[in-house]
Amino acid sequence: MKNTISGLLEINKVSTSKIDQVDFDNLNFGSVFTDHMFVCDYKNGAWQTPKIVPYGPLTLDPSARVFHYGQAVFEGMKAYKDDHGDTYLFRPDENFKRINKSSERLAIPEFPEDYFFEGLNTLLKLEDAWIKPGVGNSLYIRPFVIATQASVSASEANEYKFMIICSPAQSYYSGDVSVLVAEKFSRSASGGFGYAKAAGNYAGQFYPTKLAKDQGYQQIIWTDSNAHEYVEEAGTMNVFFRINDTLLTAPISDRILDGVTRKSLIALAEKQGIKVEVRPIKVSEIVEAVKNGSLKEIFGAGTAAVVSPVKAFGYKGEHYELEKQDNSYASHFKSALMDIQYNKAEDSFGWRYKI
Ligand code: COI
Repeated sequence: MKNTISGLLEINKVSTSKIDQVDFDNLNFGSVFTDHMFVCDYKNGAWQTPKIVPYGPLTLDPSARVFHYGQAVFEGMKAYKDDHGDTYLFRPDENFKRINKSSERLAIPEFPEDYFFEGLNTLLKLEDAWIKPGVGNSLYIRPFVIATQASVSASEANEYKFMIICSPAQSYYSGDVSVLVAEKFSRSASGGFGYAKAAGNYAGQFYPTKLAKDQGYQQIIWTDSNAHEYVEEAGTMNVFFRINDTLLTAPISDRILDGVTRKSLIALAEKQGIKVEVRPIKVSEIVEAVKNGSLKEIFGAGTAAVVSPVKAFGYKGEHYELEKQDNSYASHFKSALMDIQYNKAEDSFGWRYKI
């Protein structure tokens, strides 16, 4: 993980910032972007000189392969500012490794580590005013790669764009969420690319999620594609269940995203002596637990969603409400995680990365 600025980048700054037009108290997640973006093109078998340029539209040929075959991957990260005005990332090495793992699965060339970290460091220093202090405020960072080669031939491209764009963010969900457990649709299948943060994994969720929304649920908890018997993950987050005092989450697999927040919560829980079971979880076990009162909590974990409590779930036409817990694991883990992210607590795991 490098943290140096070697002068590798070309920088073209905006003449006037648009920051004064932004209402930082009323942000819609992912709809306002900062002044600059990082762009690096791949052609002739190599990543070219990376650039930071004013944020703005791209010009792409209509036959660019990303439009036809969805050859695209992305990441989600956040920058946090502490009370002294210092900016931190949270485990960015994990996002770097994962974008290349996703790329490999979609036959996209690996992105160099020094370009990634130099791009992030330079961009975030340039956009410092967009990172507001205060727990809950953050700058959501979206690195992504798209296939830009002009040609509708159905094979991997030989030209790509790696980009990083940034959006000031507050919470992703405005309150506790309710989820529908999938009976019929699947997010991914064994041997597929569910573990990759590939654009197509998300596009395929929109229709079933729209149907769930029509029934009053915000998200779906996906179940395995074989028999829809086991819970896997939700649309924008991994999922945890608390049965009595034990925390349960499904193991990662080729179908489930290896979430950075997920693995951080597991590490925090284990350090604090909370029993964690990472194992296949049957939907029937969750239904049984809600009926006998041992299901205390469900919550999602993800970069955008942070730790999001689930207040109710639906399954096979039944609706189950969860009782609000006084000392919930969700609020405990959310504070513990954010205290590390915002430099308010000791970082015994070495997760913070200073910009
Ligand atoms: C993230 O948490 O960063 C994600 O990628 C979820 C996103 C689809 C909003």
